[in-house]
Amino acid sequence: MLRLSSAAVVSLATLTVGAVQAQSPTPRPIPQITRQDGHASLLVDGQPFLMLGAQINNSSSWPSALPHVWPALEQMHVNTVEAPVYWEQLEPQPGHFDFSGVDLLVHGAREHGLRLVLLWFGTWKNGQAHYVPEWIKTDTKRFPREVTNRGNLLDVLSPNSTANRDADAHAFAALMRHLREIDQADRTVLMIQVENESGSIGSVRDFSPAANREFAGPVPPALIQKLGKPAGTWATVFGADADERFAAFSTASYIDTVARAGKAEYPLPMYCNVWITYPVHALEHRDHPSPGQEYPSGGPQQGNIDLWKAAAPSIDVLAPDFYSGDFKLLEQVVREYRRPDNPLFIPETGRGPGFGRDLFYALGQGAIGFSAFGVDFTGWSMGDESEGGSAAEKTVLPSSLAEDVPLLRPLAPQIAALNLQGGLQTAVEQPGLTRTRLHFGDIDAVVSFGFPQRDGESAPGTKTEQDGRALVGQIPTPPGSQPGGADFLVTGLNASIRFELAPNLSDKPATQLEILSAEEGEFSAVASTGPPLSAAWRTARVWNGDQTDRGLNFPAHNRSVIRIHLHRLPLTTPSR
Ligand code: DGJ
Repeated sequence: MLRLSSAAVVSLATLTVGAVQAQSPTPRPIPQITRQDGHASLLVDGQPFLMLGAQINNSSSWPSALPHVWPALEQMHVNTVEAPVYWEQLEPQPGHFDFSGVDLLVHGAREHGLRLVLLWFGTWKNGQAHYVPEWIKTDTKRFPREVTNRGNLLDVLSPNSTANRDADAHAFAALMRHLREIDQADRTVLMIQVENESGSIGSVRDFSPAANREFAGPVPPALIQKLGKPAGTWATVFGADADERFAAFSTASYIDTVARAGKAEYPLPMYCNVWITYPVHALEHRDHPSPGQEYPSGGPQQGNIDLWKAAAPSIDVLAPDFYSGDFKLLEQVVREYRRPDNPLFIPETGRGPGFGRDLFYALGQGAIGFSAFGVDFTGWSMGDESEGGSAAEKTVLPSSLAEDVPLLRPLAPQIAALNLQGGLQTAVEQPGLTRTRLHFGDIDAVVSFGFPQRDGESAPGTKTEQDGRALVGQIPTPPGSQPGGADFLVTGLNASIRFELAPNLSDKPATQLEILSAEEGEFSAVASTGPPLSAAWRTARVWNGDQTDRGLNFPAHNRSVIRIHLHRLPLTTPSR
């Protein structure tokens, strides 16, 4: 068998990247975020695109690990892979760049029919600076560290140093320039995560003399104006939160400069992921989590969103990572991050049960993307073998989303298009909530969770995880349909869905709803470059009888999508 060295593989990858580029003379439009009537979408090749993603483990972007990455992504049927680029590997010596790792990712993603989101592990990674090159780590004079209020140096670069910032911006700009060169024809790379869970662990802010001087000065007028605050020093304007807000402004401005330098080379959409503030149930002797202890101080956490939006306009999305099983917390986080100026994107989630429900919920809230963390077959499992993915089980998908993503993947373009029009809703089960309604004008989709559902009895709910979920999108009726009819796309897991006229809209509705047909099938992928809702629908079979008389049933492990045509008929015989 012919064996290629990794260097040969890399140069092959580079060649292929170049060759593909040469075949496509007309560049596709660059990915961009668009907004319409309060709804947002990521446009890819000019069409709404839903990133149904998976993020690989931190040390999996290496040539030796990638062969264990692609099969997991294929098995999970994701359309997008999130993969890190390491500053220490990209710029091993000042100004000497090695793009072989990036080329391998781009080439591998193309080969596996995937889009790519690159994660810039630069100055920050989980609130520390572990991915900066050795020549930066060892030169603390030129590249100052953050200093605690006791004078100790942290393994965090100071966000108040222009030398740190400019070194990062220089490397990041080189990365973006390279991406433009190798990818502007194909647009395999969709978005860039600038840094990773920024902010600092170990101190609320930098207490170096230079940072202290800045802290003692006035809050910059531009920030004061954007936040609508009275002028003053950090302490007078922000009171007890002054240290944390100062850290947030320092970090956001630093990252904005880095992102701006990158966008000047190749203006892809850019986002920052967030190590959010979690409640403190588990903390003793504390009534609230502390910045720099329980979460990195200065990152785009819930309390810093307005400030970050003001100080980092080059960052298109602040994107919360979500690692909790607490659904109420997810609802709260979504309320905070889904804003007219901030599309909802959840770039990392845990891998245990419940995250499928969270995916459906996020889609109903208009998410432009959702991604499980740690999806590959490298055997890394965070020590929790119950999550799957143990070293011994290197081919078991380590994610509860392994059911949801394959179900939704064929619908991804339509979900994105519906969300941009505001035509999609989802329902998710919660403890004590086994039946709910989604309103589409005067038509309700009644969603009942769990099986068996017996006539005359209330829905039982799902026995184990209470994670039933359903998705309903209203789509255009076919040409020639009778007026008043309605078409919906429907799917779910552990849920049944039936349609009726909304009971409280009229005491005596003159009409009733009836199913004309319920077709199990999928949209043709052939037309994937055109508007998603105009793609041809291929019917595999028509559901009727037991499959429709008491609602459309989507049990666990279901992989069906139904297009249902409803029409209205009079309640009583029209008088002749
Ligand atoms: C969040 C980080 O962003 C990831 O890189 C990874 O470290 C995960 N935490 C691990 O749970």
